[in-house]
Amino acid sequence: MLKVIELFAGIGSQRKALEKIGINHKVIAFCDNDKYAEKSYRSIFNDYEIPNLGDITKLETLQYVDLITWSFPCQDISNANNNGQGLNGKRSGLAYKVVDLISTMAIKPQYLLMENVPNLLSKKFFVGFQNLQNQINKLGYHNQYFTMNAKDYGIPQNRKRLFMIDGINYSVGDSLF
Ligand SMILES: C[S@@+](CC[C@H](N)C(=O)[O-])C[C@H]1O[C@@H](n2cnc3c(N)ncnc32)[C@H](O)[C@@H]1O
Repeated sequence: MLKVIELFAGIGSQRKALEKIGINHKVIAFCDNDKYAEKSYRSIFNDYEIPNLGDITKLETLQYVDLITWSFPCQDISNANNNGQGLNGKRSGLAYKVVDLISTMAIKPQYLLMENVPNLLSKKFFVGFQNLQNQINKLGYHNQYFTMNAKDYGIPQNRKRLFMIDGINYSVGDSLF
């Protein structure tokens, strides 16, 4: 069984996806500092026992899990924000808090799954995204990233998202799938 922590969980799309594709898993904790998101999350999964780790900035480390999902705030990267500071912004910069937390883990998760807006690949933000990838690579991970559109997966919405999956014991060039 895959043990999972869901960071920036929101309403738990990542957990829902694991359920939908039938991966045997257990989310042992989620992390979101918005009380309405927490309420929705607990209600959607009918899960009132799972701990919410709360504000990620207050965490010092994480317990071992096989997979960490991290869907960090996109406000500083979003197309809707012309003055966005990208990964240097206060909110989207929380991506680096995830890197810090993973660096403190004696046994690191085998997989990391990031989801965010495709604008991270734009001219303005791509160097920042590469820097983020480099920081993760320094922890021993190899990553692959790709954009997917909800409309190609039976969802009536034209909504592109960037996904990056990291694996720790893979050689460069190995497919993670
Ligand atoms: C892009 S949304 C995540 C969406 C999520 N994947 C979903 O399925 O709904 C980012 C989430 O990060 C949460 N967040 C923002 N700042 C945070 C912080 N300091 N600590 C923990 N969560 C935070 C927000 O409340 C929001 O739910």
